[in-house]
Amino acid sequence: MVTSVSVRHALGSYPVYVEPGVLARLGDLVERHLARRRVALVADASVYRLLREGRLADARWEGTALTFPEGERSKTRETWSRLTDELLRLGFGRDSALVALGGGVAGDLAGFVAATYMRGIPFLQVPTTLLAMLDASVGGKTGVDTAQGKNLIGAFHPPVAVVADPLVLATLPDREYRAGLAEAVKHGLIADREYFGWIETSSDALVRRDPATLEHLVQRSVEIKAEVVGEDERETGRRAILNAGHTVAHALEQATEFRLPHGEAVGLGLVAEAALATGLGLATPEAGARVAALLEQLGLPTRVREPVGEERVIAAMASDKKNRAGGIRFALPRGLGTMGPGPDWTTEATEPAIRAALRAIS
Ligand SMILES: NC(=O)c1ccc[n+]([C@@H]2O[C@H](COP(=O)([O-])OP(=O)(O)OC[C@H]3O[C@@H](n4cnc5c(N)ncnc54)[C@H](O)[C@@H]3O)[C@@H](O)[C@H]2O)c1
Ligand SMILES: [Zn+2]
Repeated sequence: MVTSVSVRHALGSYPVYVEPGVLARLGDLVERHLARRRVALVADASVYRLLREGRLADARWEGTALTFPEGERSKTRETWSRLTDELLRLGFGRDSALVALGGGVAGDLAGFVAATYMRGIPFLQVPTTLLAMLDASVGGKTGVDTAQGKNLIGAFHPPVAVVADPLVLATLPDREYRAGLAEAVKHGLIADREYFGWIETSSDALVRRDPATLEHLVQRSVEIKAEVVGEDERETGRRAILNAGHTVAHALEQATEFRLPHGEAVGLGLVAEAALATGLGLATPEAGARVAALLEQLGLPTRVREPVGEERVIAAMASDKKNRAGGIRFALPRGLGTMGPGPDWTTEATEPAIRAALRAIS
């Protein structure tokens, strides 16, 4: 019996199995969660190649497999349309199901196919990037991008189960791997001071991708995200704390035309927003200093490598908020492991305060 973390949502809950080697049991888990269904694998082509070469831990797949070219550029309605056409052509009916294999792109895209095919079929998610394991696979959001922006077309469609095997991370490129670590640092900062301290003392093992250390990292991060997301079912608004670092991160991504990977942008966003919290008198400098030191230990940047331009970043933040009333709001830390103040969980900041905070990363 493998250990699992349970993720609650409006219609029930699903398990996230986290264990080195768990993919050897993928067939059993598909049987358990998608019994008597006709199942197709939907995979990122480069991850599928690793699977065929026997390099994706002990994962095996004999059945139907549909692939799409790796990367964010595949997360579109065009790919959705091609995949759904292929399923129709192959005669997949209402009694079918999908297994989504790959990073966050595969989860969002295949999840959206599952959400819409025959008005919704179940899917099981097999995340193969650290970011997808500890963040994207929890919360039930699926969708695709459009020319107007990311994730603008989508649906809430939780998987029936998530199978996260830290052994698959062995082949992940360094930059992709570290991007996932930034989200774990965020989880510690927003909800668990002790976990943050554990990441600090485990940083060497994490950089080495030690499987047992990764098992704990993924488990604890999934627990934290599941706890926050599950609580928001009761509309407490606390889900906003998951956006820590992300107001600045999204603006940096936009201002660099997405040359800056999301995880690196999140790390920089955490440093800048912690500086903002200190500037506003909400937090002591401890949180910001420890976040920056930890990111450095993990090999993540704490200053932008290329000049981004303060004006572009501010403009990107303002446009991000154009559909909401009011100024630019941030989910800010009060200290390591504590966010707030509630009940809004976000704080509006003036432009001079934001400019001052951006200097922490430039
Ligand atoms: N649904 C959500 O709640 C949620 C949350 C966060 C992010 N996301 C989405 O996730 C996406 C980003 O996810 P990502 O960073 O995993 O990107 P990704 O899926 O594009 O994967 C990154 C790269 O790693 C490669 N790869 C994946 N697994 C590998 C492995 N084991 N070995 C070697 N290479 C491997 C992929 O081929 C790809 O080139 C974005 O589209 C984002 O919007 C969704
Ligand atoms: Zn993120």
